[in-house]
Amino acid sequence: MNIVIVGVGSMGICIAQVAATFGHDVFLFDPYSEQLDKSKKNLTSILNRQVEKARMTQAEVDKILSKVHYVDHINDFSSCGLVLEAVIEDLRVKKDQIARIEAMVPKNTIIATNTSSLSIASISSALKKPDRFLGVHFFNPAPLMKLVELVPGISTTPKTVEVTGELIRSWNKITVTAKDTPGFIVNRVARPFYGEALRIHDEGVADPATIDWAMKEIGGFRMGPFELMDLIGHDVNFAVTETVFKEFFYDPRFKPSFTQKRLVEAGRLGKKSGIGFYDYREGANNPAPDRDQQKGEMIFNRILVMLINEAADALFMNIATAEDIDLAMTNGVNYPKGLLQWGDEIGAENVLKQLQELYETYYEDRYRPNPYIKKIVSEGKTFRN
Ligand SMILES: NC(=O)c1ccc[n+]([C@@H]2O[C@H](COP(=O)([O-])OP(=O)(O)OC[C@H]3O[C@@H](n4cnc5c(N)ncnc54)[C@H](O)[C@@H]3O)[C@@H](O)[C@H]2O)c1
Repeated sequence: MNIVIVGVGSMGICIAQVAATFGHDVFLFDPYSEQLDKSKKNLTSILNRQVEKARMTQAEVDKILSKVHYVDHINDFSSCGLVLEAVIEDLRVKKDQIARIEAMVPKNTIIATNTSSLSIASISSALKKPDRFLGVHFFNPAPLMKLVELVPGISTTPKTVEVTGELIRSWNKITVTAKDTPGFIVNRVARPFYGEALRIHDEGVADPATIDWAMKEIGGFRMGPFELMDLIGHDVNFAVTETVFKEFFYDPRFKPSFTQKRLVEAGRLGKKSGIGFYDYREGANNPAPDRDQQKGEMIFNRILVMLINEAADALFMNIATAEDIDLAMTNGVNYPKGLLQWGDEIGAENVLKQLQELYETYYEDRYRPNPYIKKIVSEGKTFRN
């Protein structure tokens, strides 16, 4: 089966690499044809680096490169099983692209979008037959990240999800299915990792180095929230938070932070601009964490119960199954454990007690314990039953 990818930016070429690795002929198309040359160079240099690091052989790289075709027009979609659009995150642009695609593909070709924040319903409104359209959300970098979120829209048939899932799993990926709601699973459930860390910092409880230390040393996370925000880039991370907040009709749980907004306004975007919460410039000295165990545990527990509360909400609102929520967080953002599993390990009653204490301290809606947790505690059940 041939695959067509429309949009050859960072995601488009990485997804092409994945599909080509598994033997598909991949046709890369971009409305801006000058991008094609650039993407060819990018993919070749990404793969050559793999050879230098002895992660791939030259023969493997040559095979992949021979399967990726750069085309400046697409007029033959007849043997194409999947068209995935990965153009910029702009609703008007995406609708325009998929309407053009629909006009050219056979009627059983699956059309997918790699959007991370737009609703599948809104993009699908450009299609005459939206039943074979869905979200197929890869994570960056796609060759390394195992997770792919499948997001059916209002009109997507179960068959479309099933066939797409089988294809993506044959590329050695783990798929989860999410309801078409803001942030799908990962970008919704992960919000408190950043939001609660920022709030703790804003309250003056601890500095970024101490919060990062607590999450890594006590929590077992690979990176602390401030390091991760600096790596993602505050422009990107703030934009996701703002979108989720707005799309949830301004639910205070997702309220963005002024501190992060100011970093964006000042151009302190993190690692890519040389400074964010940490200073990455040559000769810079960053403060050491205050390794106070008691404070560290308080910080870690506060962020963890907020994350578990969010995972419980995703379950309560039928965004995904408990299994998929845990798979999404361990494979999409490399959390050391699934949050619902974590909730079971520390006990739902304990989670509820800590959330109630936070709520009674602040009387802010962001700390309200999810009804699902209250229900399982009163029924003596566990998060994953
Ligand atoms: N970068 C990530 O971490 C990431 C992760 C998951 C999903 N996504 C999603 O994948 C998609 C692509 O993201 P990316 O990071 O690869 O973007 P990118 O900016 O690297 O590439 C975007 C592509 O869109 C094309 N483009 C630009 N303007 C256009 C226009 N007016 N009409 C048609 N095409 C146009 C560009 O030529 C480019 O090839 C977005 O929907 C994004 O939300 C990104």
